[in-house]
Amino acid sequence: MSQLSTRHLLGIKNITAADIELIFQTADNFKEVLNRPIKKVPSLRDITIANIFFENSTRTRLSFELAEKRLSADVINFSSSNSSVKKGETLIDTVNNILSMKVDMVVMRHASVGAPHFLSKHIQANIVNAGDGTHEHPTQALLDAFSIREKLGDVAGKKIAIIGDILHSRVALSNIFCLQKLGAEVMVCGPITLIPKHIESLGVKVEQDVMKALRWCDVANVLRIQLERQQIKYFPSLREYSLYFGINKRMLESLDKEIVVMHPGPINRGVELSSDAADSGQSIILQQVENGVAIRMAVLYLLAGGK
Ligand code: CP
Repeated sequence: MSQLSTRHLLGIKNITAADIELIFQTADNFKEVLNRPIKKVPSLRDITIANIFFENSTRTRLSFELAEKRLSADVINFSSSNSSVKKGETLIDTVNNILSMKVDMVVMRHASVGAPHFLSKHIQANIVNAGDGTHEHPTQALLDAFSIREKLGDVAGKKIAIIGDILHSRVALSNIFCLQKLGAEVMVCGPITLIPKHIESLGVKVEQDVMKALRWCDVANVLRIQLERQQIKYFPSLREYSLYFGINKRMLESLDKEIVVMHPGPINRGVELSSDAADSGQSIILQQVENGVAIRMAVLYLLAGGK
């Protein structure tokens, strides 16, 4: 197979294991390009891409922009905070105005679940979801699984514990879909108030004891407490959360095996993860960020037709 089964990347739920393998094989090639002295290829020379961000981002926005530039695409960036959205312009008007400047692809982050899906029904351009509310963050899940494959040789058969604020996390849902499609076992762990009801129906294990989760897993993917999405209190205090669910180096050293520690960023240091764990030899957090560029190059290249 040399083409994706879809012309948009809206989520992992709607793509196949073969799509994911194709993205990984293509990312392997781009990772080799990124290690050359000249880290650029002409693949998307005739393509214009708009990065449209209605929510804050550091990693995803910079990673997409760098991926696009490494592929020689023309790039325009839009951030809602300094745009005419502040004057009341709608999503569809905003995007149609950008597209009338002859844009071929849109990378969009939006606080509303389903915003990129809505857009895909109304515009011609290829759309990549860079995070829609608490729903999906497909390229994050792809780069996470790619990083596990790189570190452990394969994803199939591995045990991955996703630990933290599962309820508000688009990374958790995309990771569950991606890891299961690749044959991994997935556990979610956190306070019961931060675990969605009926999540077992997705085929994941549920654990509230973080030490049990660490003893079970090969990889701990630690998630941020998303205070900005929490309208009510889900736990008494950050101090108490850290005491019961925070992960530190002492806990990792108490295990009878060496597990891999991941985090999608941004990290709340000292809350879900201590600095000595985040910066330890077991952490692949910065490799995740590095791999994000190759994964996003692969996604954009394949959606553009893979030529
Ligand atoms: N991992 C992630 O999505 O980070 P940003 O919010 O900084 O893009």
